[in-house]
Amino acid sequence: MPLCCGLVKIVRTADRAAQLCGGLRANGPVVLVPTLGALHAGHVALMLRARKLARKDGNVVVSIFVNPTQFGPKEDFARYPRTFARDRKLCAEAGVDVIFHPEVEEIYPEGFSTYVDEERVSLPLCGKSRPGHFRGVCTVVLKLFNIIGPDVAVFGEKDFQQLAVIRRMVRDLNVPVKIVGMPTVREGDGLALSSRNAFLSAEERAQAPVLRHALLMARDTLYKKPAELTRMVKREIGRARLARVDYVETLDAETLEGPTARTRELVIACAVFFGRTRLIDNIRRKVSEK
Ligand code: PAF
Repeated sequence: MPLCCGLVKIVRTADRAAQLCGGLRANGPVVLVPTLGALHAGHVALMLRARKLARKDGNVVVSIFVNPTQFGPKEDFARYPRTFARDRKLCAEAGVDVIFHPEVEEIYPEGFSTYVDEERVSLPLCGKSRPGHFRGVCTVVLKLFNIIGPDVAVFGEKDFQQLAVIRRMVRDLNVPVKIVGMPTVREGDGLALSSRNAFLSAEERAQAPVLRHALLMARDTLYKKPAELTRMVKREIGRARLARVDYVETLDAETLEGPTARTRELVIACAVFFGRTRLIDNIRRKVSEK
């Protein structure tokens, strides 16, 4: 039997999750919010949106799983925050019905050897700087879709490329789930909420909003050429002493390839290190705007 916490059921195995969620589908839509845990107000916004989409009779499922296959060997898998007691409380307050919280061995049993590779949208940006990252994301997300069988899944737009890769995987593999993207939730000074913000020192935290400021400047400038926008963002971020740019790129927001004459919207995306902490952010800009 699933464990119950308040009204939230906690399920630790794939079989139980599949059985439970399969049964719930008769009540109304099952809406999934996949997470790595260490939940914050950004996740709460996703859960509240999921609650609305599930309506009164449907069910919201949150998965909490720090997925090892999406972290590179030199990345922060080991130090990624694990805060299950707090996460569980936030889920209960947001009206979540089920938490799926498996062990690594449950998702990747001995002898696991099948992975999902999206080979186009995954290539630039984080795909370049974090080889194998999207293979890990696609593999775990498809597994979650197969286990939970959601009607809808909700993802944040802060991970703009992740959202695009998942949409492409779902389209290409005919996965019967609707993908919903949610705008990024920010601190008052513009810093995008992220579980990794907790790793920033006071000085790094004070400088981190430079990502948002630089991106807003590029969205609102009269300059139009993608290369000019990229340069402007790099220059602005470079003014923050502790920032080390991993990438800044201006791409077609639909294809995530270089802009062409057919591009209707640009995405300006960046990844920036503050010490060992890597932050990402993005902004969109209509091509005809200025
Ligand atoms: O965005 C995340 O939190 C993760 O990449 C996801 C989608 C839960 C897959 O592990």
